[in-house]
Amino acid sequence: MIYLNGDFMPIEEARVPVLDRGFIFGDGVYEVIPVYSRKAFRLAEHLLRLQHSLDGIRLQNPHSDSEWSNLLEQIIAGNEHDDQYVYLHVTRGVARRDHAFPKGVVPTVFIMSNPLLAPPAELLAAGVAAITANDNRWLRCDIKAISLLPNVLLRQMAVDAGAMETVLLREGFMTEGAASNIFVAKNGVLLAPPKNHLMLPGITYDVVLELAAAEKIPYEVRAISEYEVRTAQELLLTSSTKEIMPITRLDGKPVGEGKPGAMFALLYRLYQRYKHNVMRGNLPVSSPDVS
Ligand code: PDD
Repeated sequence: MIYLNGDFMPIEEARVPVLDRGFIFGDGVYEVIPVYSRKAFRLAEHLLRLQHSLDGIRLQNPHSDSEWSNLLEQIIAGNEHDDQYVYLHVTRGVARRDHAFPKGVVPTVFIMSNPLLAPPAELLAAGVAAITANDNRWLRCDIKAISLLPNVLLRQMAVDAGAMETVLLREGFMTEGAASNIFVAKNGVLLAPPKNHLMLPGITYDVVLELAAAEKIPYEVRAISEYEVRTAQELLLTSSTKEIMPITRLDGKPVGEGKPGAMFALLYRLYQRYKHNVMRGNLPVSSPDVS
């Protein structure tokens, strides 16, 4: 069951007019929210980032947080899996094709859900391969825009090379992955690139840094050079659908010892513990900064 512009329906029945600006221009933003045991994880943070993206494209939020939360609850209840990832998407609506914003047009709102499958144990045990590429995206990567053509092309480069992700480098520094955030570990220190217009401020990224702070794992948030990426002892990728995964090969060469390291093992364990505590109601769903 999906939601489209006020109605719930099976996905096969959902129709969007061809003049929707999402279809014509990619003029919209989206969120991907993980749902564990039918509870949306870090919902307040995802809705805050949605607001940031909408502000970034100058589109009024069509719903209040409580309306979003209600719609999501209905979508979660209407889909069969306990663990899901909800995709929500807002476009500037349907109008005659003209680059300039149309007046008086109602945004298109679409929500769907898919089963959320944890990464297979073999992948976590062996780690995944990644390649590097030049980050040729625009300068507002902090907006979660539906116009993802550069990300699509960059991630396909990884797939074509038999790898899982593309680590992006811009002017000698690492920004993020084509569809994930990237961390480096070196000499027991976790390195994270600073949140700015060159990367998506990941919700999972925040959780990882909060866990590092709470557990007194040394970490630094600062620009990470290409050299540091290439000489990393560990590389980790994070996203709402992949949680935390170890990258053990980069451009065909082993990362560190070529197997998941101690930083991954620790953060993975902490992340799973945190997630289960939140879902059992032992910890608040959102971070103290947001709730
Ligand atoms: N993408 N950076 C990019 C470019 C991403 O597309 C994503 C996630 C992230 C990680 O953000 P978060 O931890 O909030 O999921 C970073 C989602 C999962 C997607 O497009 O499907």
